[in-house]
Amino acid sequence: MTAEMTIEMTVENIKTELQNDVLIVTINRPDKLNALNRQTIEELHEILVDAENNKAIHALIITGSGNKAFVAGADISEFANFSVEEGKQLSSIGHFKIFNFIENYSKPVIAAVNGFALGGGLELAMACHIRVASNNAKMGLPEVSLGVIPGYGGTQRLAQLVGKGKAFEMIVTADMITADDAYKWGLVNYITTQEELLNKCLEITTKISTKSPVAIRAAIKVINSGYNTKQNGYEVEIEEFGKSFASKDFKEGVAAFLEKRKANFPGN
Ligand code: COA
Repeated sequence: MTAEMTIEMTVENIKTELQNDVLIVTINRPDKLNALNRQTIEELHEILVDAENNKAIHALIITGSGNKAFVAGADISEFANFSVEEGKQLSSIGHFKIFNFIENYSKPVIAAVNGFALGGGLELAMACHIRVASNNAKMGLPEVSLGVIPGYGGTQRLAQLVGKGKAFEMIVTADMITADDAYKWGLVNYITTQEELLNKCLEITTKISTKSPVAIRAAIKVINSGYNTKQNGYEVEIEEFGKSFASKDFKEGVAAFLEKRKANFPGN
């Protein structure tokens, strides 16, 4: 690996740090346990759009500021007086700008769940492609305690990740589960100490960095297509598999294998 290069930036509610080819995005409202207010959603969306267009970035890690919370949910104070229409809008804007956007992102996004991931916080982690949790993390969808339901994809993605039975239980009881249970149930891929959390995520991104960005983008698209009721995942796979043969990444990957050297993917 080349010498480490770090570029840090801060907007109002988010800090970013570019470490080589990995963008670490930290939701930064520790006083409100990093709750997602409108401003934070907008800022996160902008950051995601910029990073998507930046060819030098190969993966993202999303985490929360401080050692207590990843994200403790949507900002409850903002929707306290919402009407039906405003509620629908909050949900659909969130889906469009953040949650579906991350799920369908062209680069792998890892959630480093460093504490409470509740409501919109767990939904954010679930929209990411991979989740790693620190052992103090607590996860849950407590919305029914407030008289609402999860509105950022939680009803769908939780069932996909842990199965329908566990999803029903978590949503209707509003119970939080421990990092250990989340690991046992397949909700998170790994558990670490809080100190090791980022390193574990970087260990994963280091592997991603050496692979073909074109193939990774296609793989994300195809995996997601299987969960889209309007698509046939197998057909999308055939299509995308075929398309791979036109990429420079494919030519380089095969040439490197035959020449017994490491591939240096151009990313197109
Ligand atoms: N929206 C807005 N503010 C939130 C928030 C949220 N989802 N979660 C936490 N906060 C704020 C608290 O209001 C408090 O602000 P204040 O100091 O100005 O009063 C601050 O963050 C610290 O939270 P606090 O409740 O004092 O911490 P705690 O350690 O006692 O409890 C939680 C931690 C996570 C159990 C508790 O904050 C909680 O239940 N949060 C809401 C979780 C939720 O229902 N999320 C789903 C929303 S749809």
